[in-house]
Amino acid sequence: MQFSPPMNVAVRTALKAGMMAREWYDRRHELEVKNKGKNDLVTTVDLIVEEEILLQLKKAYPRYGVLAEEKGGKVTTDRPCWIVDPIDGTLNFAHGVPHFAISIALMEGGEIQGGLVLDPMRNELFVAERGRGAYVNDRRIRVTRERGLTGALLATGFPHRRLERMPAYLKTFEAFSALVADQRRQGSAALDLAYVAAGRYDGFWEMGLSPWDVAAGALLVREAGGIVSDFANEERFMSSGNVVAAHDSIHGAMLEMIRQSGLS
Ligand code: IPD
Ligand code: CA
Ligand code: CA
Repeated sequence: MQFSPPMNVAVRTALKAGMMAREWYDRRHELEVKNKGKNDLVTTVDLIVEEEILLQLKKAYPRYGVLAEEKGGKVTTDRPCWIVDPIDGTLNFAHGVPHFAISIALMEGGEIQGGLVLDPMRNELFVAERGRGAYVNDRRIRVTRERGLTGALLATGFPHRRLERMPAYLKTFEAFSALVADQRRQGSAALDLAYVAAGRYDGFWEMGLSPWDVAAGALLVREAGGIVSDFANEERFMSSGNVVAAHDSIHGAMLEMIRQSGLS
């Protein structure tokens, strides 16, 4: 797969950052862990890895804007903009659960043009560019269409930082559970979306996410033939943080389930 020059830079940057994350994973007991907010950790590795990513991206494209989880910033509309999550799945990382990712997206003209999600522990690099398909390690990936909602394997995330939302969330979770084969909560929204793109999960739903959790993964799903929306089937999932991503045969049914259980 041939990537555009900016996505080539993003890939090289992510691979380097992934090596750093892996090294630090083995030495994680040396890391300082701080609480940013309720159930919201930041470790030294989030900061170091993000700094390296921003350094490389800025070096190659000094004019591009940046929105990064730890450093902040904002989405620029007058010029292209990177959206970076240095470690998606920090809680897993800090607990020694080898399931976390580096996520980098490129936005231009209000659209996500490129996105990558790297799982440095499994050496899986998911990359998509708008109109050019989605890939894992150079192999084309597509959402699955084999299953309806009955028998589907869904991924989700608990609203663990906004516990007041838990009752409404659990009602929807229960409604899905009555129908689907099972639901997974693996702790990395970026990888959840990449797995939908790869046809491993049939769908993903979560509320209250941030743009850096979903920007790259959403493009992966779309380029793999799936649908991504907010709970009202609108485009605004990046601002609301409410995301439903799935293949077209169950996306509508998932929205309906969310609506009926009162979450939308
Ligand atoms: C988190 C993960 C998790 C989701 C959280 C996110 P972080 O990102 O994506 O799956 O449920 O809400 O904030 O904090 O590990 O980068
Ligand atoms: Ca994240
Ligand atoms: Ca993060």
